[in-house]
Parts: sequence; C-alpha cells; structure tokens
Amino acid sequence: MFITLEGPDGSGKTTQIRLLYDALVAAECDVLLTREPGGTAIGDQIRTVLHDIENSDIVPETEILLYSASRAQLVGQVIRPALAAGTIVLCDRYADSTMAYQGYGRGLNLEALTAITDFATGGLKPDLTLFLDLEPEIGLTRRKTSGQEWNRMDRQTLDFYRLTRRGYHTLAEMEPERWVSIDASGSITEVAAAVWATVQRRLNLQGQSPCG
Ligand code: TYD
Repeated sequence: MFITLEGPDGSGKTTQIRLLYDALVAAECDVLLTREPGGTAIGDQIRTVLHDIENSDIVPETEILLYSASRAQLVGQVIRPALAAGTIVLCDRYADSTMAYQGYGRGLNLEALTAITDFATGGLKPDLTLFLDLEPEIGLTRRKTSGQEWNRMDRQTLDFYRLTRRGYHTLAEMEPERWVSIDASGSITEVAAAVWATVQRRLNLQGQSPCG
C-alpha cells in the first residue's frame, strides 16, 4: 500500500504524516516514511538546489526535471523495494505536487508533465492520496509563524497558491477513488483523527488490518 499526503504549504502534512506513521507503528504495521523532494542521499542534494533562495533564476523546465530526478531516485531506491517487501509506504508529497505546482500553478504543459512523471516513476501511482485542504492565506500565515525553513517555493504569490489549490481539486475530481480530501483547518488532533479513520478504512478494505 502506497499512501501519499498532498496539500498546500502550511497545511500540516509533515505533522500529520508523522502522526500517521506513529499510529501505524503502534498498530504493528511494517511502515516506511519518506518525503519529496529528497528521501535519498541523492534526492536530498537535489532538494538543496531546489530550496536555495539564491536559485531564484531556475527556469520552470529545470525545476520540473529536478523534482522528477529526485522522484526517480526515491522510487527506484526506496519506494519500489519497500512495496515489494510488503511495507506500507508513506510519502510526504509525490507526483501530484508536480501536477499541482508546476502544472496548474506555473502553467506548464500538463501532457508533458505527465510524460516526464511516468518516465521518472515507471508509472507508479499511490493507492491512496490524502489531500489536506486549506485556504492558501491560512497556510501561508501558518508557515510564516511556524519557525520552519523558509525556502524558494515559499516566495510565490498568493495567486500561484490559489491556482495550485484549484489544481489539486481538479486532480482529485479526475481520480475520486484514489483521493480523499480532508479539511485541514481544524486542530492537529481533529485532522489526525480524520486521517487515521480514512487509512484504517482503506487497510480494512484491503484485508490488511490488523497489521502484522
Ligand atoms: P517542503 O519544505 O517539503 O514543504 P512542505 O512541508 O510544504 O511539503 O517544500 C516542498 C516545496 O516544493 C513545496 O513548496 C512544494 C514544492 N514542490 C513542487 O513545487 N513540486 C513538486 O513536485 C514537489 C514534490 C514539491
């Protein structure tokens, strides 16, 4: 089972995926937590280039190829072997971020992005994508007050984040069986409960619960 978390910046993905990981470990599941961009030694080097505020002159095509290179490494080195071993894989962002940010946000050609993504991932898609939905204004305020790293992607305009969010909604509408949308405006505990209920339901459906 391959589960991804998606959502705008500041939607709490990183907190929620950690809580989900802890809940799965407590349920004795064999689970692996990773993230994009990064998740491998090579991917983390690519992440540094992507996040460097000095690199404001990255052209959109370079940006997509770097995200995709990081993803190809992660899929080949980490995700596919883990799935083959029966491990549940949790990933903080995946290819849908490329469609939402570079496609709908930056306006790059969606067919080209799909082809690049298929090449990078060998067509590997998540079984379940949890979308933490939040108004971009709230997400940005959270980001600014969180004390987390402030990176190149945090410097986009509000319009960019609005387009990205709308893109996520379009992606979710296109594949309703894969996507579950969760209101991320609630407290950490409320959102975590909704995430856990969704994942438990899916695991039960797949006959994998209880784990172990
Ligand atoms: P990160 O610090 O991981 O932020 P978050 O906690 O919000 O995930 O930064 C990742 C940034 O990279 C985020 O702004 C989204 C962006 N991104 C893309 O634009 N395209 C992609 O394909 C991926 C994976 C991320």
